[in-house]
Amino acid sequence: MTGAGYDQGIVTAVTARVPAKVNLQLSVGPPRPDGYHDLVTVFHAVSLFDEVTVAPAERDTVVVTGEGDGSVPLDGSNLALRAVTALVDTLGPGCRDAPGVSIEIRKRIPVAAGLAGGSADAAAALAACNELWGTGLSPQELRDVASQVGSDVAFALLGGTAIGLGRGDQVTPALATGTYHWVLAFAAAELSTAAVYAACDRLRASRGGRPGQPGEARHPAPVGPVGPPQLDTALMTALRSGDPAELGPLLTNDLQPAALSLLPDLRRGLTAGREHGALGAVVSGSGPTCAFLARDARHARDLAVALAGAGVCRTVATVVGPAPGATIIGVAAEKS
Ligand code: C5P
Repeated sequence: MTGAGYDQGIVTAVTARVPAKVNLQLSVGPPRPDGYHDLVTVFHAVSLFDEVTVAPAERDTVVVTGEGDGSVPLDGSNLALRAVTALVDTLGPGCRDAPGVSIEIRKRIPVAAGLAGGSADAAAALAACNELWGTGLSPQELRDVASQVGSDVAFALLGGTAIGLGRGDQVTPALATGTYHWVLAFAAAELSTAAVYAACDRLRASRGGRPGQPGEARHPAPVGPVGPPQLDTALMTALRSGDPAELGPLLTNDLQPAALSLLPDLRRGLTAGREHGALGAVVSGSGPTCAFLARDARHARDLAVALAGAGVCRTVATVVGPAPGATIIGVAAEKS
């Protein structure tokens, strides 16, 4: 067995837990020749978790249960499966004794919601197989494999609050203090990340520059070509202060106008959240989930009740951030 040498015997299954993310800043550059966009983003992992269990098997398989399970592909396009394939390609076929691996994904993170749920499952599968096979890869080597699978996968491994550069896959932990209380409002619809980036490019082309955000004074709509994105130093200072009242007004998302153009009803949710005292209200990533920053745990509960009652979303969840990245939470073993 190539797996980790546990005293209790041969490892037969490993379970990892992995968080959803919101973006505190998401600044998008112009489209690159490869179709991606250079980003400067500040990722923030929140306490909404998927769990992934991997076990040796005759062939690679995926089973998905839970939130949005019907929308998750079970073929070779499944991100967790692609992550396992990328890891095997990196290590060589001798990295595992069994010919395949069974992947069981238990979902709580909604699918195609701007919360990087698919990337989270890929990160969990990487962390779990890394443990199952005792690969000896360093965290950075594992993140390099992750970035082959998707732009958000490396962050899901890291967790916490982190700056993302490049496609978002070059991640560095950010200096941040405090615990932040959020309400996530889940929409009935799904949005494809690629479609939202394409809508962002179209909006910018039609406006001759970067679109400003509704009610967003910090990014007035400039004209001219889109420049390289810059890290918001005021946001970084707010994160060091740990004060949600400082952070709230600084949340920005260049993809928000595009997400709103595709799902205009999201505006009602953002407005309702602000009316109920949210310190910040922003579309999460490519949407359609909206994230609302609350003053504290009690305010988050009140805000969640108000948003649920306003009928502006499918359902709500209260979460805290920062949450840890992909973490091994269970190892099953049998006597050797
Ligand atoms: O990397 P990932 O597979 O998660 O990206 C999904 C899609 O989102 C890409 O195919 C691309 O259209 C868009 N994207 C982008 N620029 C990024 C990240 C994602 O254009 N930095």
